[in-house]
Amino acid sequence: MGYDVLLRTEFKEIPVLHRGKVRDIYDLGKSLLIVATDRISAFDVVLPNGIPQKGRVLNQISAHWFKTLEDLIPHHMVTARVEEFSGVPKAVAVQLKGRAMVVKKAKPLPVECIVRGYLSGSGWNEYREKGSVSGLPLPPGLKESQKLGAPLFTPSTKADVGLHDENNDFAAMVKELGEKLAEETRSASLRIYQKAAALAEKRGIIIADTKFEFGLDDSGRLLLIDEALTPDSSRFWPLDGYAPGGAQKSFDKQFVRDYLLSIRWDKKPPAPDLPEDVIRKTSEKYVEAFERLTGKKLET
Ligand SMILES: Nc1ncnc2c1ncn2[C@@H]1O[C@H](COP(=O)(O)OP(=O)(O)O)[C@@H](O)[C@H]1O
Ligand SMILES: [Mg+2]
Repeated sequence: MGYDVLLRTEFKEIPVLHRGKVRDIYDLGKSLLIVATDRISAFDVVLPNGIPQKGRVLNQISAHWFKTLEDLIPHHMVTARVEEFSGVPKAVAVQLKGRAMVVKKAKPLPVECIVRGYLSGSGWNEYREKGSVSGLPLPPGLKESQKLGAPLFTPSTKADVGLHDENNDFAAMVKELGEKLAEETRSASLRIYQKAAALAEKRGIIIADTKFEFGLDDSGRLLLIDEALTPDSSRFWPLDGYAPGGAQKSFDKQFVRDYLLSIRWDKKPPAPDLPEDVIRKTSEKYVEAFERLTGKKLET
């Protein structure tokens, strides 16, 4: 295929803090090194194959949004330029061009800040059963994938697992963070989503929903952390062909999903190998998502 695929990193010189489904995170003391590998998951299982360029796309999409949105919200990114990585040995940094960033270490808030602009996934399921999303009542007669009148903030707190005495998820969040911080986080999430979704739509991509994470810096200031508005943390749909009334095609993972459904995989690990052409076409979609959203060429 002509591209390297990076499935896992292991750097003896710096301690690993966390390995996620896709990213490997190293502890640099006051900062973190976040490395986006080429791992891909589908139906919540990490697949055996990597997708060429996927890690670079994810990293550079986040970097793009942090910069583009920094007037709306301070963020954790220090730099995504490997030449500027301080605290990272040169021998490590040179392997990470385009696929890593150094960020300020923050105190993460224990909340997944989900914003939904369209009715899909678990939001659609709840609406179908109860006419609400995250406990917020919606008008009757909405269709699957329909654009909502206004985006909804539907946070998910660790505390609300098995907790049924809350009216809605925002109430649980207030309990967790206090009124002031919860309000600040909600309003930031909605503002960021609205701005980003409008920009993306002009470039042919619907960001149907997304998940943000926030943290507090040393002085207690709210920072946007983690990844931002990537296809891994959001539902990206092609605007072209958008048709409410059913599920939409995924901009990035459609070939992978179609393939896995076609072979009737039971969605339990281990996942099967992907054919070459599925890998290649998926890689092309990720690069296309990056180029459309940013108007830039991917740094490789
Ligand atoms: N600036 C930051 N400071 C501290 N923790 C962070 C920062 N940015 C992201 N994180 C944390 O790093 C972790 C990233 O994990 P992730 O790669 O998403 O794996 P997972 O699949 O477990 O979610 C999350 O727990 C997130 O809260
Ligand atoms: Mg995560």
